[in-house]
Amino acid sequence: MSNNIIIKNKIGNFNKKIKVSSDKSISIRIILLASQAVGISKITNLLESEDVINTLKSIKKLGIKYTKSNRIYYIQGFGLNEFKRKKNITINAGNSGTLARLILGLLVKSKSNIKLIGDKSLSKRDFSRVIKPLKMFGANIKSNNNLLPIEISGTDFLRPITYDENIGSAQVKSCIILSALNTPGKTIINAKVSRNHTELMLKFLNYPIMVKKNSGYDKITVKGLHQFKAFEYSVPGDISSAAFFIVLTLLSEKSQMTIKNVNINQSRIGIITILNKMGAGIKLKQKKNYNGELIADIHIKSKSKLNSITCPSKLNSSAIDEFLIIFLVAAKAKGVSKFKELGEMNKKESKRLDLAIKFLKLIGIKVKRIRNNINIHGNPNLKLSKNYEIKNFLKDHRIFFLSCITALTLGGRWKINDKDSINTSFPDFIKILKSLGAKIN
Ligand code: S3P
Repeated sequence: MSNNIIIKNKIGNFNKKIKVSSDKSISIRIILLASQAVGISKITNLLESEDVINTLKSIKKLGIKYTKSNRIYYIQGFGLNEFKRKKNITINAGNSGTLARLILGLLVKSKSNIKLIGDKSLSKRDFSRVIKPLKMFGANIKSNNNLLPIEISGTDFLRPITYDENIGSAQVKSCIILSALNTPGKTIINAKVSRNHTELMLKFLNYPIMVKKNSGYDKITVKGLHQFKAFEYSVPGDISSAAFFIVLTLLSEKSQMTIKNVNINQSRIGIITILNKMGAGIKLKQKKNYNGELIADIHIKSKSKLNSITCPSKLNSSAIDEFLIIFLVAAKAKGVSKFKELGEMNKKESKRLDLAIKFLKLIGIKVKRIRNNINIHGNPNLKLSKNYEIKNFLKDHRIFFLSCITALTLGGRWKINDKDSINTSFPDFIKILKSLGAKIN
């Protein structure tokens, strides 16, 4: 079967309520924490995408049993570091940087040697950012020049660390927090603010973790070796998946949409702040707290007039996976939008900053780049009518989503490759587009 799609028409008007896929960051973390709890945890609305399935397969390889019944997952944990693994196992994290970096944190005490591998995209990503703190804890690590494959064997002589995390990477921060669970004493992380699901989940589990907010940094203190009980958790919708439907609605004509039950954690909603500064008028309704996480329904209406933005770089971490689609809005906005210090975008599933610039130029938008800062010269009259083919280097799911939303809102005839990449994070993406009336072959 061919792995590309064809879009020849813009989407028509729509007025719909939808649900997007469950949150990927939360799904991966909740499985890893359930594997460390005492008893059987019950998880509903787990995202059933490749990254999450690879997380389930990984804990299974480490000896954790899980079952599924009526779309509910039951995960049997035996407590901290009680993996009943066989010798010499290999864990395949597939495409997932989050799984690969977080699971290493749970292996710092491992008695046997564990090998970590991934797909072509993950094998190009740098692991020095986690290898450094893991070695400080005392774990033994061999890598291929900081790339996968990595071999890790733990130690019984773990020591707590104090670490300055200056990238603003939630993966690095969470890897250190998970290592700290297995380490006696107090680990302290001074972390540049990034998504805080791991901290919130541990608080919900009554784990001794303390977070003190300083300007732009969190001082996180984790006391090691405290067991926690199995739990129930229902995973909310993913703002990173909702992002594509927010922009679809915004750039379509005379349409509106409600996206139900989405996680609106402050550390994730940079896209809403940025788009509202551009005049999007997105509203968050029915806000509620669920086990420490904020959840809401998102309301969006089409907007024919949008303004450019000078985006404060303090919003970068909270919109890091959304800049690709934010750039599309900047392309349609009046004036020059400026974004700064986006080097981290090039460390994702593909070199997203480089690809975004190529993409914007392909659709006729003037872009100026100085190092990792970019200026996008918006054109409110932008309409496309040519043929476009997206070869989707390294099968990056978010490049695929961006291409589809561009085709459906700006026109042109598009052939977009690597349809299968949607399975990484959002398997129902095309199905939902079709339910809104999109014609996709
Ligand atoms: C994630 C953190 C971010 C993000 C990724 C998911 C997480 O990566 O880009 O898609 O779940 O912790 P970094 O921690 O590298 O910024």
